[in-house]
Amino acid sequence: MPRCSRRADPSLHVRQANIEDVPAIIELERQSSSAAHWPREQYENLFVITNGQPRSSQRVAWVIEKEAEVPAKTPKKNDILAFLVAHRIETEWELENIVVAHRSRRQSLGTILLRKFITHARTERSTGIFLEVRESNQGARTLYGKLGFEEAGLRKNYYASPAEDAILYRLLIFKGVKGSDFL
Ligand SMILES: CC(C)(COP(=O)(O)OP(=O)(O)OC[C@H]1O[C@@H](n2cnc3c(N)ncnc32)[C@H](O)[C@@H]1OP(=O)(O)O)[C@@H](O)C(=O)NCCC(=O)NCCS
Repeated sequence: MPRCSRRADPSLHVRQANIEDVPAIIELERQSSSAAHWPREQYENLFVITNGQPRSSQRVAWVIEKEAEVPAKTPKKNDILAFLVAHRIETEWELENIVVAHRSRRQSLGTILLRKFITHARTERSTGIFLEVRESNQGARTLYGKLGFEEAGLRKNYYASPAEDAILYRLLIFKGVKGSDFL
């Protein structure tokens, strides 16, 4: 299992999410008012298998978990500290949600998940990644800017409860027109 980074806590791992993570994902999401909010069924649908294929084969879902510190042979219950969910629309990816537990923020977990996602999109030769974020969500906007995303538009009253505009961000990866020019 890949380690998060050399500097990070060695008990942290990034891995693909599975259906058993849904309760922890929902708990993280519910604690973050600025996160996108989905009904449980929408998360569960990420992991539904039909004819041997995930129904959402155009999706990625990753979590960062912390290994529980318990004596050997004791059953472990690892802690989910962060998750990212995204889906592919034709040649582009949309970041649908990213949440880091309050107690683990500003420790690069968001950066680690986003970098993994960008690498995935590059490997797939996607043309880019887009996302919407609440205008007031300065922390997330700074993070996206640091990773090369650029503002690409504004969606008036995109969000409800509370009503707010969305800022659209885009990261261009691959021109995908002629040749193989990566940006
Ligand atoms: C946005 C979020 C995912 C960032 O996760 P994180 O793990 O704390 O981010 P990182 O530690 O990787 O931050 C990297 C950089 O982004 C910027 N940043 C992140 N959060 C910030 C904040 N609250 N205020 C200002 N800058 C911030 C900083 O420049 C930071 O670098 P630094 O800590 O060295 O100054 C996290 O705050 C979160 O879960 N927010 C609630 C859910 C949400 O709003 N998701 C986005 C929906 S579009």
